[in-house]
Amino acid sequence: MESKWLSEAFKGAVPNDFQGKVGWQSPSNIALVKYWGKRGKQLPKNQSISFTLSECRSETFVTFEKADRFGFRFFFEGKETPAFGAKIEKFLLENQTFFPFINQLHLMVESCNTFPHSSGIASSASSMSAFVMCLLDIENQIVVKQFDFQKASYFSRLASGSAARSVYPKMALWGATPCFEGSSDEYAVPLENDIHPVFKTYRDSILIVSGETKSVSSRAGHGLMEGNPYAPARYARANENIENLLVALKSGDMDTFINITESEALQLHALMMCSNPSFILMKPNTLCIIEAVRNFRNETQIPLCFTLDAGPNVHLLYPESEAEKVENFIKSELITYCNQGRWIADHVGDGPKKL
Ligand code: PMV
Repeated sequence: MESKWLSEAFKGAVPNDFQGKVGWQSPSNIALVKYWGKRGKQLPKNQSISFTLSECRSETFVTFEKADRFGFRFFFEGKETPAFGAKIEKFLLENQTFFPFINQLHLMVESCNTFPHSSGIASSASSMSAFVMCLLDIENQIVVKQFDFQKASYFSRLASGSAARSVYPKMALWGATPCFEGSSDEYAVPLENDIHPVFKTYRDSILIVSGETKSVSSRAGHGLMEGNPYAPARYARANENIENLLVALKSGDMDTFINITESEALQLHALMMCSNPSFILMKPNTLCIIEAVRNFRNETQIPLCFTLDAGPNVHLLYPESEAEKVENFIKSELITYCNQGRWIADHVGDGPKKL
């Protein structure tokens, strides 16, 4: 792929009057089988599968203008914040062989998130994929061509691993597996046509246990897998979970879905607990919610389950048909475990959209 994108890079001169503004919104995603551990140039040690979210997203506009050399300014929620833009600027400079035209442009990036800054929800997947979509859009205005979502996934991955999965509607698979034709370590592929309809309208209620920033960055977390004695067993188990989850997603097998999803969340945290240095990212209220969810499921037979990201907040996953009952349960029992009673009602979404 790398050589394909390199050979189609536009190396000519940008027209003198080239200027304009593009905008994309892109969603966050929540992994069911977790990507935890990387190799080489942002390649995953194991495959991962995620739901594309809807309400948690980034909205990014890029104003571009022909210039003598590369120029870059970054505004977050209307305020110039170079520190937030540093990751995008680094990504651009590292990948200028693919996008040589940036050296003839001044870019002004304006970005905001629909979810609160202090919610503990990682924004790199949504913000990096939204920016990459804008970048490809600018390229497509120089060399007129169709929008290439696979290319968007490839470069989103280079900007931030899990961002590779944010560019498709419903669900995505990232990582090469013999169980899914066309899958790749270099970009994610859409799963929309390979899942049971029940998963296409799944809900994700995100219970905010703490809005604090994470005590371990995902970059450091991936790095800690290097010396983790359980890493080989983890990668083998992740492969097995991918294989079984793909089958369950297709058939609508809820029990397997719940089993794998919860086990993956706990494995992610177990890996952090037994790395060196070790991290405990769950809070007491995270465990209270997990216990309450499992009791609720046993008592009601409603297929509600949880997953966790690399932090204390709990994502509650359930079919749309159970929304009323689960929301009542959140409001009557779980809300006491949430920071200032905060939770976000999200659901599986339709992927990025041009603004
Ligand atoms: O994309 P990164 O480098 O922020 O890593 C994401 C890691 C997890 O969110 C914990 C799991 C995942 O697959 O999204």
